Amino acid sequence: MKQVVITGRGGPEKLQVREAPDPQPKRGEVRIRVAAIGINFADILARKGLYPDAPRLPAVVGYEVSGSVDQVGGGVDEALLGRDVVALTRFGGYSDVVSVPAMQVFEKPSMLSHGQAAAIPVSYLTAWQLLVVMGSLKPGETVLIHNAGGGAGLAAIDIARHVGATIYGTASAAKHPFLLERGVHEAIDYRTTDWAIEVDRLTAGKGVSLIIDPLGGTHAKKSYRALRSTGRLGMFGISDVTSSRLPGPLRMAPAALGMPVFHPVALMNTNRAVFGVNLGHMWHETDLIAEWMREVLAGVAEGWVRPHVDRSFPLEGAGEAHSYIEERRNTGKVVLTT
Ligand SMILES: NC(=O)c1ccc[n+]([C@@H]2O[C@H](COP(=O)([O-])OP(=O)(O)OC[C@H]3O[C@@H](n4cnc5c(N)ncnc54)[C@H](OP(=O)(O)O)[C@@H]3O)[C@@H](O)[C@H]2O)c1
Repeated sequence: MKQVVITGRGGPEKLQVREAPDPQPKRGEVRIRVAAIGINFADILARKGLYPDAPRLPAVVGYEVSGSVDQVGGGVDEALLGRDVVALTRFGGYSDVVSVPAMQVFEKPSMLSHGQAAAIPVSYLTAWQLLVVMGSLKPGETVLIHNAGGGAGLAAIDIARHVGATIYGTASAAKHPFLLERGVHEAIDYRTTDWAIEVDRLTAGKGVSLIIDPLGGTHAKKSYRALRSTGRLGMFGISDVTSSRLPGPLRMAPAALGMPVFHPVALMNTNRAVFGVNLGHMWHETDLIAEWMREVLAGVAEGWVRPHVDRSFPLEGAGEAHSYIEERRNTGKVVLTT
């Protein structure tokens, strides 16, 4: 098989295609001939040495693939053979063959291409956990989706729209026309304007019911302040860490030190809730993930889940794909195809 290996900490040139023996599915596993692989921001952080959950380098990352089953291990239903599937991979996804536990494998909706299917698992499960499961978003509430033009952001828009919320989204200005078309009511350029002032104006000084924040650092403090009473803040990333100019492990320091600290009394007195989401720490909750995935895949059939692939790159172009995302040029998902 061919894999894209992160050979060491550094720039996109650290992504190299290498040959390796095909994996044999163990008991309870399914082997997939991969057609498309979803890229996540976490893969970029792993390459930069800024992702604590990443395997030790050199390593093959990748959390999600779509393809067809060509072998099954002991104890797995042979009816899966030849079926088109979408799967979560606990790393190793940047490969043209993967073996994964059968419970991480789901039937691919036939109306989606492999690229669109590979764009679903991480972005939509994360957004589902943030908005529906923990954020309890209700019809008529307001939601602020930061980084609304990315993979997780577009997934959150689909879900918020389905719930019937009023959607505010922050993103680089070039993405605004697309975001408005997708259902965002107000798009805010957080890189050139103070989004908090804009949100204050939009909510007539009340604040927002639910904010989802993948930027972290001091940005999360600002998000907390923008909540209304009964508002919830879901934190799920630390993209801000990439802007640090400090060397090595010190790079995490500004974002980590800038993070807010929440005192229970302050939470009580302001009637606010704060929660965290890390899908990469949910591998033990297979029942929940399967339930959420069923809801999302039903959304594909019902038409409100609309995975959007901005660009596809071949495995050999993985470095170029990472650069494309790092330069903030992606609107929605970037995938690798085999
Ligand atoms: N906790 C979890 O389980 C979980 C799961 C999925 C994703 N996430 C987090 O959610 C965020 C989005 O992830 P994603 O995979 O969907 O990626 P993505 O949003 O497609 O990432 C690229 C976009 O992020 C924005 N961005 C913000 N800060 C950036 C920076 N410092 N450098 C480059 N781009 C930056 C840019 O858009 P604009 O300039 O338009 O904002 C860029 O186009 C990441 O922080 C990721 O770690 C967390």
